[in-house]
Amino acid sequence: MFELNGKTAMVTGAARGLGQAIAVKLAQAGADVALCDLDAAWLAETAGKVRALGRRAECYGVNVAKGDSVAEGVKAIEKDFGKIDILVNNAGITKDGLLMRMGEEDWDAVLDVNLKGTFLCTKAAMRGMMKQRSGTIVNIASVIGLMGNAGQANYAASKGGVISFSKTVAKELASRNVRCNAVAPGFIRTAMTDALAPEVQAKMKELIPLARFGEPEDVANVVLFLASDASAYVTGQVLSTCGGMVM
Ligand SMILES: NC(=O)c1ccc[n+]([C@@H]2O[C@H](COP(=O)([O-])OP(=O)(O)OC[C@H]3O[C@@H](n4cnc5c(N)ncnc54)[C@H](O)[C@@H]3O)[C@@H](O)[C@H]2O)c1
Repeated sequence: MFELNGKTAMVTGAARGLGQAIAVKLAQAGADVALCDLDAAWLAETAGKVRALGRRAECYGVNVAKGDSVAEGVKAIEKDFGKIDILVNNAGITKDGLLMRMGEEDWDAVLDVNLKGTFLCTKAAMRGMMKQRSGTIVNIASVIGLMGNAGQANYAASKGGVISFSKTVAKELASRNVRCNAVAPGFIRTAMTDALAPEVQAKMKELIPLARFGEPEDVANVVLFLASDASAYVTGQVLSTCGGMVM
């Protein structure tokens, strides 16, 4: 049921962190993977891990915040692989600061990558999915998009937007057998969260009933579920992967 043999997955932000773990997990289940990040050269490590599993990996320099770059990338992927069955919108950034001091540039940068990037990649990949009358889109949101967080107004707004965008895509594409769901990770150990001050990390841990930070594989397992036929009757949902931090 979790088997993805013969499927092609496009994963954005696949050079490291959650994106790398997701690409490897989908490859373990049998998928070939189109790896996207700002620079194709950064993807060599992920590509090596996918190929070591005997699956095909190709690397694409795609800036998800730019329409032309996304259109070119999706065109190249469809030419190389013939189709896209699974899209994982994972690329994301933070530019934290209290609202009082948050500049327009930091607002725009985060919204452009996290929310507009999800829109652009979905729009580009959905055409093929609609034509083939099958596909699944998994958008990486965040528990911050559900609960807000002081110092992250731009990030919270972008991830809240990703959640409502996912529900709308689910409604628009369901009749073509294309599903769309969101995953809302909590505190997962990656470069993004390693950058947080130790006292912030300690405070976060107190809020987690399972009393540990998540690992990238915890999120990748949930993405695999939503990408596979095991979730054939699931669309428009938000699956929190946060050790119970948000219930
Ligand atoms: N780590 C966590 O605890 C956590 C929690 C909740 C949600 N998330 C979300 O998970 C996703 C991955 O987070 P991560 O922790 O692995 O981050 P990360 O910073 O380790 O990796 C993000 C990747 O996205 C790429 N990227 C950034 N901007 C891009 C752009 N414009 N176009 C293409 N690629 C771009 C980066 O180069 C990088 O490889 C993000 O959407 C993040 O918001 C992470």
